[in-house]
Amino acid sequence: MQTILITGAAGGIGTRLRQLLKGIYPNIRLSDVRRPADLTSDETFVEADLANMAQVETAVAGVQAIVHLGGFSVEGSWDTILQSNIIGCYHLYEAARRHRVERVVFASSNHAVGFYPRQRRIGIDAAVRPDSRYGVSKAFGEALGALYAYKHGLRVTCIRIGNFGDVPVDRRRLSIWIAPQDLVQLIRIGLEHPDVRHEIFYGVSDNVRGWWDNSAAFRLGYRPQGRSEEHSAAALAAQAKLPPDPIGDWYHGGPFCSDEFSDGIERAPL
Ligand SMILES: NC(=O)c1ccc[n+]([C@@H]2O[C@H](COP(=O)([O-])OP(=O)(O)OC[C@H]3O[C@@H](n4cnc5c(N)ncnc54)[C@H](O)[C@@H]3O)[C@@H](O)[C@H]2O)c1
Repeated sequence: MQTILITGAAGGIGTRLRQLLKGIYPNIRLSDVRRPADLTSDETFVEADLANMAQVETAVAGVQAIVHLGGFSVEGSWDTILQSNIIGCYHLYEAARRHRVERVVFASSNHAVGFYPRQRRIGIDAAVRPDSRYGVSKAFGEALGALYAYKHGLRVTCIRIGNFGDVPVDRRRLSIWIAPQDLVQLIRIGLEHPDVRHEIFYGVSDNVRGWWDNSAAFRLGYRPQGRSEEHSAAALAAQAKLPPDPIGDWYHGGPFCSDEFSDGIERAPL
């Protein structure tokens, strides 16, 4: 890969990834709607609002691959999700097609399938069950990726990120946590593996309490190093201080499921 674009470069994951990918890919272009506070003189930054096609095209022109982290990263109003995540995602893939970009790695989310109960283990063949407008936008991004992969030959990898961080911080995170280096591994598979066409991976470390069958990622060489169980004592102690959440504690998506919930828990699907 000659030049890689990272969108959402000013965000939490983007800020870490910039450091972690620097030694691996020599030419990284950064983009975001806001300038990263810690931008250094050797970094290239293009300011672009994903909701603006012309700006997205300027950011994308001349790159061979895109790591698409940009977007609204939690639940938001319909208009916010529509502009940044749905229209923004369309602009990103369409600009990639117009500028003959070879690969896109899309930061999808566990919230595309958040409404599965924790007692159920799922793979990538489970139908989407978004737990929020945000989760719907991630399911949309995965579907749009499939369109551009199978119609236009773009190589697309969607990573349903669980929770990115140095350590898992509560019980749910013991199941869905991903260590930074493990996310780097998955992104590198998406950017480099010759067999990628349209892949969906779970962005999760080697967690014994995990809920997701990640064999698609393992097949392409993923070997996670992070083990959430090594942090279980601290995570469970933190969990003990949290109030119970009967809806959120039942589902993979946690508080994204209980937020705005207006159905009866007794009708909770299995
Ligand atoms: N952090 C996690 O654990 C996690 C879990 C699941 C999925 N994800 C996804 O990974 C990606 C990165 O997550 P993060 O935690 O770094 O989020 P973040 O909110 O810290 O960063 C997102 C970045 O996107 C930018 N952005 C938002 N709207 C934009 C627009 N219209 N145009 C251009 N840029 C825009 C923001 O300025 C921000 O810098 C997001 O897409 C998020 O949905 C993250």
